Amino acid sequence: MSPVKIGVLISGSGTNLQTLIDNINSGDIYGEISVVISNKKDAYGLTRAKNNGIDAVYIDRKNSLDDIEFNKKIIEELKKRDVQLVVLAGYLRILSSEFISQFRNRIINIHPSLIPSFCGKGYYGEKVHKAVLDYGAKITGATVHFVDEEADTGPIIFQKSVEISEGDNVETLKNKVLEVEHLLLSEAVRLYCKDKIIVIGRKVIVRE
Ligand code: GRF
Repeated sequence: MSPVKIGVLISGSGTNLQTLIDNINSGDIYGEISVVISNKKDAYGLTRAKNNGIDAVYIDRKNSLDDIEFNKKIIEELKKRDVQLVVLAGYLRILSSEFISQFRNRIINIHPSLIPSFCGKGYYGEKVHKAVLDYGAKITGATVHFVDEEADTGPIIFQKSVEISEGDNVETLKNKVLEVEHLLLSEAVRLYCKDKIIVIGRKVIVRE
């Protein structure tokens, strides 16, 4: 079996992307990142890709007629490299239904909360941690899941909780949750690349 070809979509700094790069370089993940695509020109994740000899592609939404055409351009970049697994690592745009159907159960997203809490439309990045703190929650965490037509509603692969301490603020909480995100995302991609993950309806089973 040849290494799984992975396409990573990002919009920001790319620390989750870096975790995947490091785990592939160390041999933990039997995959290869064929391309990193961003809707943000200045996303530092594109620099991380270039620093590791990975194709880094910026696609400007403004140069597309609509979201459908924009998503078609991304699909084209993935298809021309035979990408088998798509990872959303801090990608802040909704995928088109055509994208979802072309990569059904082959798109993995990381979200910085314990889904179904603090997720869905408007819940992304630091906004999630602010909502968690404002609500007075005592624990939060991260969720890695397959992507379906709605925001953050696809079958859950892994979740892990994070205790909220008295003195936590948005920055400290974000960093605590990011540590857990990096663990969950790399483990999910590692097992996917070893063909150990199966989806039955909404349930995700990890084979021994
Ligand atoms: C992460 O918290 C991710 O869950 C969220 O955006 C953040 C991106 O972080 N969607 P990075 O760009 O991977 O550092």
